[in-house]
Amino acid sequence: MLDGKKSLFSGMQATGTITLGNYLGALKNWVDIDKDEYMCFYSVVDMHSITVRQNPAELRKRARSLLALYIAAGLDPEENCIYYQSHVSAHAELMWILNCFTYMGEMNRMTQFKDKSKKHPENINTGLFTYPVLMAADILLFQADVVPVGIDQMQHLEITRDIAQRMNKIYGDIFTIPEAYLGKVGTKIMSLQEPTKKMSKSDENPNAHILLLDEPDVIMRKFKKAVTDSDACIAYSEDKPGIKNLLDIYCAVTGSTVDQALAEFDSMGYGALKKRVGEAVVEELRPIQERYQDLMKNKDYINSIIKNNAEKANYYATKTLRKVQRKVGFPDRIR
Ligand code: TYM
Repeated sequence: MLDGKKSLFSGMQATGTITLGNYLGALKNWVDIDKDEYMCFYSVVDMHSITVRQNPAELRKRARSLLALYIAAGLDPEENCIYYQSHVSAHAELMWILNCFTYMGEMNRMTQFKDKSKKHPENINTGLFTYPVLMAADILLFQADVVPVGIDQMQHLEITRDIAQRMNKIYGDIFTIPEAYLGKVGTKIMSLQEPTKKMSKSDENPNAHILLLDEPDVIMRKFKKAVTDSDACIAYSEDKPGIKNLLDIYCAVTGSTVDQALAEFDSMGYGALKKRVGEAVVEELRPIQERYQDLMKNKDYINSIIKNNAEKANYYATKTLRKVQRKVGFPDRIR
């Protein structure tokens, strides 16, 4: 809770253009959230991004592009606090405190660390190891009641709750205990090339993912190449991961139920299904892409959002940070 209102926090990494998975699993749900009920904070989590080596100029560019995409997708920057994580130093300060209440064993169990260290054996840094603690700091700083994410972030949310409960037990109520908010569909969009694997922007095969700024013909081509199976029968089943994924995408984009989609595609071939899903995605992304192009031209407008929202985020984040600092025994500031 913040100022008597329920609070919500979420974020995305600024590593590469976001995918259809990021959009359907998170961003689209953010846009649908009732702004009267929640005070919403959406961060471009650039501090998380440097756990993997980045080109500095590229990272800056991508962070700005992601911030503009949040707005282009429909988040009103007057109603939602959209800001860069690195502009709010309280994230790092709270993380330090939380580090001291998090156990090595807990971090050792994090599957993302294991996956990412396999992927980048040359750069297994401690930031990558303590990444979930920074994520906990993000969420707890804003006393978030709700955190809308895709399924892959559930383990991080669990550890956030554990750390918060642990500290509340020692110091009394410092933190709101956050709940995950998962959409009904689209919580795990799979690779178009290996449908048993999550769609990820870091996939080296460009046909495996749809990027939010892909041109319509590129989107159609990628769907055409999507891996399916040899049954030639459209059914929603774990045994048919390629078809299931296409149906999930279709339902998440159009709002249809699986049954409605199955009825619609009854007696269609795989080629026709892929075309329909591709067209639905193109239509969903077209207005977002247009708004994005306009926004990126409007430098002053974006700059004003960056400045004003960083101030707002700093105000609330500092409030929590000071409370925690006092609880753990840091001396009061002299004004
Ligand atoms: P990131 O940047 O990997 O992904 C951003 C959001 O997109 C969701 N997502 C997906 N959903 C469905 N299908 C997919 N294939 C797919 N891929 C990604 C993710 O679940 C996420 O919601 N650690 C986070 C960023 C973060 C954060 C936070 C999130 C940092 N601090 C605090 C929430 C609260 C991450 O790397 O997400």
